[in-house]
Amino acid sequence: MSDRKPLAGQKALVTGGSSGIGEAVALALGAAGADVAVNYLSDEHPALNVVDRIRARGGSAIACKADISSEAEVAGMFEHAIDTFGTINILVANAGIQIDAGLTDMTLEQWNRVLAVNLTGQFLCARAATREFLRRGVVPEISRAAGNIICMSSVHQVIPWAGHANYAASKGGIKLLMETMAQELAPRRIRVNAIAPGAIRTPINEPAWNTPQALERLLTLVPYGRIGEPDDIGRAAVWLASDESDYVVGTTLFVDGGMTLYPGFAANG
Ligand code: BGC
Repeated sequence: MSDRKPLAGQKALVTGGSSGIGEAVALALGAAGADVAVNYLSDEHPALNVVDRIRARGGSAIACKADISSEAEVAGMFEHAIDTFGTINILVANAGIQIDAGLTDMTLEQWNRVLAVNLTGQFLCARAATREFLRRGVVPEISRAAGNIICMSSVHQVIPWAGHANYAASKGGIKLLMETMAQELAPRRIRVNAIAPGAIRTPINEPAWNTPQALERLLTLVPYGRIGEPDDIGRAAVWLASDESDYVVGTTLFVDGGMTLYPGFAANG
């Protein structure tokens, strides 16, 4: 067996790469041999910290500031990453936010902001990545695909979520955006897939796990009996980005400890 790393020679861009799931994905791709552009929105320190950790393990990384809901900033971010690395082979469209409110109280601004970041942001980044993949084409020594897009979705692409209509709508939108892109781009040898995380221990859902009572309540929704760790998603992303999964196209990989298995029915119904 060769000791070549699974993503050796590949160049990756991870949006929202400075914290939570994005941070773990950036570190995992770096450890798997990819050069990594770590996108962040405003505070450069956490992004530089991720960059330093990738470099400390012998990898190559840069930080890229951009609001991914802005067409101009996405264009600038891709230009910066491609100027630095020569190309981009892997996009992990990960950046996402929650701004929670009950439906009757939800403001248009709260609705629009979540859709702009979670859904429009993925469209803008996927479009930019696709243009670069098609410009470069397949380089067989690097990958069997011309490029790989991984959309970070959520179990809430299928599980309705009261009090989170904007977020659930954005993730439901990602499901069909991803599948449509996959169908459209597969003939050009671009693979598009999604990861749907369940409850992962990150800042976005801290109130759901930061006390023993909250964690116990959360775990009633997780048949596997533990909360997910960001690394669980990092490992899934490495596999989906590598040629190990070359025949996987348009699939959502649920990494959720069984959250989507209707655990309420285990002793009911
Ligand atoms: C949300 C988390 C939530 C998890 C499971 C994720 O998409 O961002 O806040 O804990 O889904 O419900």
